[in-house]
Order: sequence, then C-alpha cells, then structure tokens
Amino acid sequence: MTATKAGREHIQRVLDIIKETERDGLLVDRRGDGLSGISGLKTVGVLQRLAKLFADEADACYLEIGVYQGLTLVSTALEAPDMACFGIDNFATLDPDGKNQAIVRARLETFAAVNATLIDADFEDALEGLGAHLVGRQVGVYFVDGPHDYRSQLVCLLAGLKHLREGAVIIIDDANYPDVRWSTRDFLHGHPEFKMVFEAYSPAHPVNMTAAEKKTHELGWLNGVNILVHDPDGALPEMLPPVDPTERTLYLNEWLAHRKIFAELAPEALDLAAAVCSGDTDAEAKARDAILAKHGGLEGGIEDRFPDRNVYSAGLTEGRYNKFTR
Ligand SMILES: C[S@@+](CC[C@H](N)C(=O)[O-])C[C@H]1O[C@@H](n2cnc3c(N)ncnc32)[C@H](O)[C@@H]1O
Repeated sequence: MTATKAGREHIQRVLDIIKETERDGLLVDRRGDGLSGISGLKTVGVLQRLAKLFADEADACYLEIGVYQGLTLVSTALEAPDMACFGIDNFATLDPDGKNQAIVRARLETFAAVNATLIDADFEDALEGLGAHLVGRQVGVYFVDGPHDYRSQLVCLLAGLKHLREGAVIIIDDANYPDVRWSTRDFLHGHPEFKMVFEAYSPAHPVNMTAAEKKTHELGWLNGVNILVHDPDGALPEMLPPVDPTERTLYLNEWLAHRKIFAELAPEALDLAAAVCSGDTDAEAKARDAILAKHGGLEGGIEDRFPDRNVYSAGLTEGRYNKFTR
C-alpha cells in the first residue's frame, strides 16, 4: 500500500461522510434521468462522497464488484470525474433477459461516465488480473456487492487487499445476510489493520419487507451494510458484525451437503423438505419436478460418485514438495 493517508484525521473524515450520508442520503440524485438499480440510496450516497474524498489523490481509483445495471458505478464515477472507476460483473445473476450488460454500457454513454470501465468477467478472474486494468493505480474506495455466499465475500476481501491504498474504505453491501456478516467478521479477525466504522441492518431482505418497510429502507442501506476502513495505527477499537454462534451448524451442513452424490440439488431438496414438512402436496409435486429437471441437466461424472463422502481427490498427487527458486 502507498503511504499517502491514514490515521485519525482521515478516519474522522470517513466517519463524518457516513454521518452526512445518514442525514442527507444521496449526494446527487439521477433517478429522474433514468438511473436505477438495487442498492439503497444511502449506500449510493456514501460511495459518491467517499469517491470525492479520494478524488484528488494521484493514482487513487474506485472499484466495485457487482455492477448489475450500473447505478452505483455511474453514480460514483460522475462524482469523481478525474478518478478512474472500475466495475466488475459477469452478469451471472439477476439478469433473466440477458440485457444488463447492454444497459450498463448504454448508461455509461448516456451519462458520459467516461472515467468508468466495465470489466465483464467473473470477480475472481478479474481480481487476479486486476493489475492490468489498474496500471499502477490503487483502490481508495472498494464496493463489494457481487455474489453473497460466504466464500465469495471473503475472497472479494482477501483478493482485493493487495490493490488497496493506505486509508482505503471498503463498503460491503447486503450485510443483512449472515454469510456476509460472518465473512466480514472473519476478515476483520485476520486483518486487524482494518476496522469496521459503521454497520446498519434492516429487518428483512427487501423481498420479504412490507411495502412501508421497503419504502423506508430503499432510501437507506436497503439490505444492510458493513463499512471498513484501513486503520494501520489501530486508532479505532475492534468492532465486529453480530452473528449467531449457533449458525455454525449451517456451515457444517455445507460440508455435509457438498460431499453427497447430488450436492448440486441442495436448494431444490430444501424446497422439497419445506413442502413435505408443511404438508403442501402441490408444492411437494412441484419441488419433485424441479429436482428431476435439474437432475436431468447435471453434467457428466455423477455416475462415478459415491452416495456420500465424495472427496474428489482421485488423481491428485500422493506427495509433492515445494522447492527454492533461488
Ligand atoms: C446486487 S447486484 C449489484 C447491484 C449494483 N451494485 C447496483 O448498483 O444496483 C449483484 C451483481 O453481482 C453480479 N455477480 C454475481 N456473481 C458474480 C461473479 N461470480 N462475478 C462477477 N459478478 C457477479 C451479478 O451479475 C449482479 O449483477
């Protein structure tokens, strides 16, 4: 990391920005011009203000994982027109008609966000090759809003680390999900040079909110947020996202599910379990059909699997040493 800023004063500025965002929400509202998306407006507002904070720093840039239709990328890029902004998305989800990439490209053009670059790739591949895009820049504001499973969240944080600059701020969206809170927590345990400065949650995922709740939280942090700041001097005390320690059973279940012959059918199998347990016979029939349909589409190799304890180690080396290169 380049030593340009950090310490108390910088962290205080970050805190002030979050407080201003809590009070005022969006910095510049472009919804009337057709800029929409699925992030809370305070989330967008904090990105806009943080981008401005780093805008004067030579070689600072903005990075986001999860562009969707470009709300956060465009909104942020326009507030720091001289700062390079990068958005990574492979349009793997939330895109049933396959239109999101075209929408993002059209919006970048319509809003003249010429400092923004869309990287159309899986986030792990993109993070691995990010140096080629950054060409010497370092990330001051890092927005994590891609796949929300525990491992993806943690990989976003770990693989992003080497690209961050002194004083970097990480904004982690969708922190309502326990998987997201667990990964933030585990990252903070392993990287005490980062501290959480702010967290906010809402009572449910937007899909399960009442109309009134949704209206309120769309103006806020929608599905929750964790905000971390680089704090190499340890100016702040430890602050961790809340988790339920008994949830660890679910992560143990993940291991139990992964090794089963039909591991890929786990979500559909749970729908079947829900139908069976509630006695809903229509839902049960539907879930069975869904399982059989997905089973029919499973790629080859299933016939080589065992009913349980599949470890996929056949063909791996039975002994390999590392060796000095110099
Ligand atoms: C919640 S949306 C992002 C919302 C967006 N920030 C906004 O402004 O509204 C999550 C995005 O992550 C993307 N995504 C999911 N898995 C991904 C992966 N493996 N690599 C890259 N992007 C991924 C999805 O395609 C989706 O567009």
